Amino acid sequence: MMLEGKVAIVTGSGRGLGLAYAQELARQGAAVVVNDVDEQVAGDAVAAIEAAGGRAVAVVAPVGPTETAELLVQTAVDTYGRLDILVTNAGVLRDTVLWKMSDDDFDLVVNVHLRGTFTCVRAAARYMRENQVAGRIICIGSPTGQRGNFGQTNYAAAKAGIAGMVRTWALELKRAGITANTVIPVAATAMTATVPYFAAAVEADAKGEAMPPFFRHDLGFGTSADVAGLIAYLASDAAAGISGQAIGVGGDRLQVWSHPEPVVTEYREGGWTAEALAEQGPAILAENLQSVGERFPPLPEELQRPQA
Ligand SMILES: NC(=O)c1ccc[n+]([C@@H]2O[C@H](COP(=O)([O-])OP(=O)(O)OC[C@H]3O[C@@H](n4cnc5c(N)ncnc54)[C@H](O)[C@@H]3O)[C@@H](O)[C@H]2O)c1
Repeated sequence: MMLEGKVAIVTGSGRGLGLAYAQELARQGAAVVVNDVDEQVAGDAVAAIEAAGGRAVAVVAPVGPTETAELLVQTAVDTYGRLDILVTNAGVLRDTVLWKMSDDDFDLVVNVHLRGTFTCVRAAARYMRENQVAGRIICIGSPTGQRGNFGQTNYAAAKAGIAGMVRTWALELKRAGITANTVIPVAATAMTATVPYFAAAVEADAKGEAMPPFFRHDLGFGTSADVAGLIAYLASDAAAGISGQAIGVGGDRLQVWSHPEPVVTEYREGGWTAEALAEQGPAILAENLQSVGERFPPLPEELQRPQA
């Protein structure tokens, strides 16, 4: 067991990936504060962890507000005496193209993912610093935050923001021995169940069958449990030297993402006027255009499903 004696909070852990993280952290010996807005699934998650011999307590409250973040940390300390690990996983989607996105769609997604991550990590970092705990902050990003995705303005803003905050926290928390990393998961959950491209994999998973190797290997798309091992590893003492990273995992695939870096650097004395750019720009800009969006290989014919 890698996490004996540790105490963890996992937000949004009533179902999906968060539930798998909470179960794996508990299996590795950590006591877990389960959190969700859905009381039923939060209770079921605690019952499942306890039935497997683990320790867990539920906090039913929405992440976003500071009060919830403080309640989560307080519950960990009051119930289990300390806090070592925070996984910010809670999330919602409100997908639509930019020109159809309402203020409410934007605010809701940014509030849960971005503000929820900020308030929870701030509360955990305050506790860890004050109590000299060499803690582990694990924030959940997304391929959309790294690359952009059609119909996900709000989600891209939140997830790119999370990756940006984590880089900053890795710097700010280093002296306290606290690590902060972004995990970029891909898995069959309620969130991905409706994406037609993944239909054959979701179908196999629902039947309790192994997912086709194309999904597990080529796409890095598997089950929630496939992601949980990385969460537990990053939460452990063994990962003390890993901070400020964005690490992707799914199915059989593990990836280390680069952080944005300039791909070309040119200088012009006196600076870059519009005229200078019109003259020299094409060679510098047009020849170095970067791609956006996720790149999916074509689905093999036998894995294609009719679109609903
Ligand atoms: N499924 C994927 O392939 C995938 C890919 C990239 C990123 N992610 C991210 O992983 C995380 C989990 O995704 P999932 O697919 O398991 O989703 P899910 O919808 O299955 O589970 C999310 C859970 O969060 C809870 N929740 C929603 N709002 C909340 C709030 N304000 N406070 C507390 N709990 C709240 C929901 O009730 C639900 O139980 C999300 O941050 C998501 O963006 C998922």
